[in-house]
Amino acid sequence: MLDEQRMQEQMLALGGTYIMNHAKRTLVIARRLAKSEQLPYDEEVLVFSCFFHDISAFLPYRPEGSFDHAEESAKIMPALAKEYGIDESKTGAITEAVRYHDKRGKGTANETMLLRNADAIDYLGFMAVARDFSKQPIEMSRAVAALKKHRREFAALLELQSAVRMAEKRIQNLDLFLSEFEIESLGIY
Ligand SMILES: [Fe+2]
Ligand SMILES: [Fe+2]
Repeated sequence: MLDEQRMQEQMLALGGTYIMNHAKRTLVIARRLAKSEQLPYDEEVLVFSCFFHDISAFLPYRPEGSFDHAEESAKIMPALAKEYGIDESKTGAITEAVRYHDKRGKGTANETMLLRNADAIDYLGFMAVARDFSKQPIEMSRAVAALKKHRREFAALLELQSAVRMAEKRIQNLDLFLSEFEIESLGIY
């Protein structure tokens, strides 16, 4: 049985509630998508990959300089999965899901598709606004630039019909925020 409590605590220690709760939301969304698409999945593979897909963004796992966080997180998966007592037969599927969580159309497993679509949904909407502004507390222009980039990139990652439906309102909200923000700020931010 996978120790979810331990996984939560590990993510909390690495990146606070910001990343722990992103991981938890991603899992909830992935499960909802699986249900509406009637996609079967392996519980351990989905839970583990949802929890740790961004792990390389945080020290001590974070590499020096610029890096592909999905690729680097994937490299960590075999050893980490072993620490949690996951059977080696599942390592390949976990690694695939993590490696391709931000690469459209890559990978074949249902868990890969579920993680990627769920992760994209969690970076759209008012949630995206909260996430990007919380990362840039004293540079709003950077937050807005990040939001515009994320709006483009994450909307493009949606593949499942149910994910497209789930994201529709979020994308509208995000676009509304961006246009109203421009007006209210008078372009000064
Ligand atoms: Fe990511
Ligand atoms: Fe993520």
